[in-house]
Formats: sequence, structure tokens, C-alpha cells
Amino acid sequence: MARVLVTRRLTAGGTDPLRDAGHEIVGPADDIPLTAQKLATEAAACDGIVCLLTDRIDADVLRSGHAGRLRVVGNAAVGYDNIDVATAHALGVAVCNTPGVLDATTADLTFLLILAATRGSTQAENDLRHGRWTGWGFNTHLARDVHGATLGLVGYGRIARAVAQRAAGFEMEVLHTTRHDTGQPGFTPDLHELLARSDVVSLHVPLTESTRHLIGAAELARMKPTAVLVNTARGPVVDEDALVDALRAGTIHGAGLDVFEGEPTVNPRLLGAPGMTLLPHIGSATVETRTRMAQLACQGVCDVLAGRIPPNAVPAP
Ligand code: DGY
Repeated sequence: MARVLVTRRLTAGGTDPLRDAGHEIVGPADDIPLTAQKLATEAAACDGIVCLLTDRIDADVLRSGHAGRLRVVGNAAVGYDNIDVATAHALGVAVCNTPGVLDATTADLTFLLILAATRGSTQAENDLRHGRWTGWGFNTHLARDVHGATLGLVGYGRIARAVAQRAAGFEMEVLHTTRHDTGQPGFTPDLHELLARSDVVSLHVPLTESTRHLIGAAELARMKPTAVLVNTARGPVVDEDALVDALRAGTIHGAGLDVFEGEPTVNPRLLGAPGMTLLPHIGSATVETRTRMAQLACQGVCDVLAGRIPPNAVPAP
């Protein structure tokens, strides 16, 4: 029987794989994030960790764990920029994540933001809630159509492809760009061309050093003044100050963000920017999906502890 730290409370049934395998589960009694120091101390006393994207599993935590008995970290998220994967691999600590189980749910939420940003529903609702709606008007709250518009996907992994499926129902033309030619219709190797042609740009790349501020002032300047930007990937992929400047200047029309550069702190300039819909990182937040994510992360930990290579192992960078 192994000892596994589960850093935060998971949805009901989420830790079933650990329980079924007979492992001892430890973790804080409350649902408060562990400090870096506490995480490092706990890591040393455990064989495995199941963590969230809000836990920083950095070199200190990994070295401390490795000096003890740590063998595996299971991230209950598909993105793993919170984990120093290079150090983990160097130390022989396995890392796994949750690919596949949150694609449809995150794509649904992406579409919510595409619709909200394009139709201006956040501003319209705010007008109603704040008593600014004086009645139906032929020229009020005029927006743009989503159906028939051109959608540009930056990144073409599972979530992006699930968004493309939904876009087909809206009769949208779908473009995509990635580092490697997908050989599929709509591919362009040129990000700037995609930005110039799209009515909606939706981001689906992991956060790495090469995607940090991938969308900055120069990229926003390539977009149509009627276009909207949607980000359900990771906050730092967008230069938020450049985005606010672009919205204020009318360089682009609107934006929908589910993720932020300084989460959970939200840049106050975003709050006052025109055409903005903001959500608190809820892309995968349904009971069904969060339970599948928890179970997949726990199952990966169980696999490693049983000497198996899990299908959701994160490769060395
Ligand atoms: C992930 O799993 O990386 C998502 O951001 C969670 O919603």
C-alpha cells in the first residue's frame, strides 16, 4: 500500500482508483491550497501526489519528494505548465495528466464565449441589469452573426477539433494553424494570415516559452476590427494589456476570456474593457468532467505505483 497526497478536495468518486487499489490517501482536512513549503514537506513523505493546476510542483517540491519516496505526480488537469516536467523526468518522477476527458466540456464553454463575445450578450445583459434598457430598439445591441462566420483555431489538438465540430453546426468556415502541417482542410502555417481572415480567433495551445504572449499588439493589429478573440487555453498566451489597448482603440471588437495571466488575480484593466466577457476558469467545470479528470489523474498514479506506464503519462520535454 502506498501513501498518496491529494492536495485538494476532489468531486465525489474522484479518488476511487486510489481507494480501490488500497492506497492510503492523505491531504489537508480543509480545502485550502498548501503552501510551497508544506507541499515540499508532504511530497517527501508520499509515494504519489494528485494535484491541481493551481499547485506549483516546482524543482524544490520534486527534489524534496525525490529525496523521500516520491515516484509520481498526477495532475488533475490536461495542461501541466504548473509542473517542472523536465526536473521530474531528470529525477525519475513520472508525471501524468488528463487528456481526452475534458475536450467536449471545454469546447462547449469555448462556444459559449464565442457566442457571448460575438453577440455582445454580456454588455446587453449588463444594460438590462443596470436599468439602462429602455425598450426594444431596431438599432440597439446590434452585433455580428456567428453562423456563417470564419473561425480561426490557433492550435489543433483535441479541444480545438471539438470546437471545430461544434462550428460545423453553425455553418462556420474553420481555419487552423499549428507548427506541423495537419494536411487537413483549413490549415495555414501562417498565424498572421489566420488572424487576418478570421471573424473569431480561438486559442488552443499549451503554455510554453514559445506560446507566452503569442497574441500581442502585433497579432491583434492583424485581426479584423469586427473580430473577437477567445482564450480558454492559458492566460499568459495573451498579452492582456495589449488586448485591453486593442479593445479600447477598436482594433478588434470583443473578447472572451476564461483564463488569466495572473490567476486568480484579474488585471483590473480587463474589467473595464469594452466588449469583454470574463469567466473564472470554468472550461472543464462540470460534475461529470471534473470527476473523470480526478479519476484519470488518480488512475495514472495507481498505474505508476503498480509499475505500469499509464496511457496519460506526460513525455519528457
Ligand atoms: C486544464 O485541465 O488544463 C483546464 O484548464 C482545466 O479547466
